[in-house]
Amino acid sequence: MQLTDRQKALVRDSFFRAMELHNPWDTRFYDHFFRRAPHLRKLFRDDIAGQEMRFMTTLKVIVDNLEQDGTLKPRYSELGREHAAIGVRPQDFSVMEDALMDSLRDLLKDDFTPETEDAWRLLYRQVAGELQESMTQ
Ligand code: HEM
Repeated sequence: MQLTDRQKALVRDSFFRAMELHNPWDTRFYDHFFRRAPHLRKLFRDDIAGQEMRFMTTLKVIVDNLEQDGTLKPRYSELGREHAAIGVRPQDFSVMEDALMDSLRDLLKDDFTPETEDAWRLLYRQVAGELQESMTQ
């Protein structure tokens, strides 16, 4: 399912607000992720702040390209193959979705409304689906 115009606006506004509130995001997101899935820590190197920066930069590219359907497909395929090579499995993605919601909720507090959360979950699942597809090929 595609995001509606309203959902795209909610994602954009909330993302830029979150970036303003906490920039750089240091290790907030991966702290949540490893709290939820400690067994996945071993896949990562030591520079978690650097990794968080790379993840957030990718998220910014995704948010900046919400109107450009298909533009990021080659990047998703590449990222999916890289993840498979590192040992990430398709079933590891849902815990990351929850860690991202934890981080946005921490930063935005009551502004992270259920409607905004639904929009983010939909976007995350689309991106995760693209990565997962190229992992299994
Ligand atoms: C939609 C979801 C995801 C996105 C957008 C994403 C994005 C990224 C990006 C941009 C990088 C850096 C690649 C580079 O070096 O250029 C990366 C690396 C990595 N990602 Fe993901 N990722 C996602 C999901 C996951 C999941 C579910 C896991 C599960 C464990 C994971 C584990 C890793 C690991 C282990 C690395 C390498 C870290 C290191 O070098 O220390 N990613 N990811």
